[in-house]
This record gives sequence, C-alpha cells and structure tokens, in this order.
Amino acid sequence: MRLIRSIPELRVLLKTMKGRGERVGLVPTMGYLHSGHEALIRQCRSRCDYVVVSVFINPLQFGPNEDFHRYPHDLDRDQTLCLEHGVEIMFMPEPKEMYSTGFSTFVDPGSMGNVLCGSYRQGHFRGVTTVVAKLLNTIQPDLAFFGQKDLQQSAIIRRMVWDLNIPVELVVIPTVRDDDGLALSSRNSFLSPEERCRALCISKALFEAESAFRGGVRLASEIINSAKNLLTELDELQYCELVDALTLDSIEGQIGRLVGLCVAGKIGNTRLIDNVLLSEADDPTRQLSLVGIPE
Ligand code: PAJ
Repeated sequence: MRLIRSIPELRVLLKTMKGRGERVGLVPTMGYLHSGHEALIRQCRSRCDYVVVSVFINPLQFGPNEDFHRYPHDLDRDQTLCLEHGVEIMFMPEPKEMYSTGFSTFVDPGSMGNVLCGSYRQGHFRGVTTVVAKLLNTIQPDLAFFGQKDLQQSAIIRRMVWDLNIPVELVVIPTVRDDDGLALSSRNSFLSPEERCRALCISKALFEAESAFRGGVRLASEIINSAKNLLTELDELQYCELVDALTLDSIEGQIGRLVGLCVAGKIGNTRLIDNVLLSEADDPTRQLSLVGIPE
C-alpha cells in the first residue's frame, strides 16, 4: 500500500494504472475508520482493480463553532485497516495541498445544500461538494463509493456529478449499524455510555417508521408524528422530515416512490444524523446510486 500526500505524485501513479486499463475506485473519508467505511472499502475492492481511500478532514465543511479541531483521528489504525482490506493507495493530503494560497473557487450545491443539515450547518455542503469535486478531478476514478448514512450528502453529490458531467459512476451502500441499531459514525466516540444509550431512540424511531410503512401507513404526517414521539431522549431535535431521497423535496400528504425519513439531533454536544428509506422496492439503497457515466 502506498501512502501519498502529494497530488502530483498521486497523478503519476494513477496515470500508470489507468494506462494499464485498471478500474480505479475511490472511497472518500475523513478517517477514524469504522465498519461503515470498511463496508465501502469492501464494495470498492470487489468492483475495482485499484482501490484509493482518501483520508482528509476537510476544514471547508466545518463551521466556525463546529468540531473541526476535535474531530477524532487515528492514522495508524486507519492505515492498518486499509492494509487489511488490500487498499492500494491511501491519499492523505495536508490542508495546504488541497487548498493552496489564494484558493478561491467553490462548488455551490444550490438549494439542496440549504435544507435539512444545510439549515443548521451553513456552508457545510459547499465544503463537501468542493472537496469531493477536487478529489474526483484529481483521482478521476471509474467508481466512487458513498454511504446512505449521509443521505443528503449522497443526493447532493449525485446532482453535482450529473450537473457538472463528471465522468464517474456513484455507488451508494446501506447504512452499517451496531448490533443495537445505532448507525456507526466517527462522532459516536464522543458519546458517554449514558448518552449512547439515549442515542438509540433515533434508530428506534426510524425502525418503527419503517414497520409502520410496511404495515401500510402512507400519510406523511402520521409517520413524522409517531417518529417525533419516540425522539424525546434527544437533548435537541433539529429535524425529523420526510423528503424525496433523490431531490430532497419535502414530502407532504401521501408518501411517494423513494422517500427518506431523516433525523438530526443532539445528545449533549454531539450532533447525530440518521435516516431510513421508505420504499416498496426490494433494495431501495441501490436506487440512490448513479449507474453509468453522465452523458
Ligand atoms: P466520513 O464521515 O468519514 O464518511 C465517509 C463515507 O462513509 C461517507 O460516504 C459516509 O456516508 C460513509 N459512512 C459513514 N458512516 C457510515 C455508516 N454507518 N454506514 C455506511 N456508510 C457510512 O462523509 C464524509 O466523511 C465527508 O463529508 C466526505 C464525503 C469524505 C467529504 O469530506
């Protein structure tokens, strides 16, 4: 496995691989890897000849009062894990490698970046789209892998890839959870045992909504109100909303084809997000992927 910190070095290496006709896959991460990231790497490994994992805590996607400076990291552990999964390249740039002096060009995700998490984290998705566009341009992977855990992020990136004709296929994988239901997140490490216990109300509310949907409930207000009644363990509920999983348009009235029930809230100082897809399809997460390269 090669550890690479410089963009020119990365480009030279990838040019050779592409010259040999190898299929290159990218898994973008901010590190402190857990089983959710591992599932992405495994998928990438099974579908690509050459696996690149990027580890970059992107300053651009954190607000001034957010946890950029205390975001967890453990590069040694991340490296061991990538090695175990047969990753060929770990790309770990310093901020100045990604944002050189005078950096002034950003990718604006438009209105999709202002709803849900966007209304609590100003500029967050502009930071995400900018860094993901830079990674896709630098690495030019054939496939890039993202998690349903960040449903809004995946919808915004799909829109960006489509709008900017970025030649990449996007694969979205289902959320990986602990045995008790809690969605894995690098930020779970901030939770005390008591907080972690309370955090379980999120997945409980989402699973209840899923079973109500399966039981035939289709009225948006009924799903949302029942979920909110189960979210009382949160110190702050930021949102509990039904949205179209592809466009993020808010759903009122009857639930349509592919809908996400999305929740964000705080336990102590830790902000957690989670979602479930409500759909009659067998494998709804698959429908979040962008199959084929945009024309
Ligand atoms: P990060 O939070 O490290 O997540 C990296 C990838 O792992 C994202 O695609 C995310 O959706 C996925 N992921 C996180 N938790 C998951 C889980 N429990 N199950 C399945 N997938 C999971 O998301 C980011 O980093 C950044 O915003 C990034 C895209 C790297 C841009 O900076």
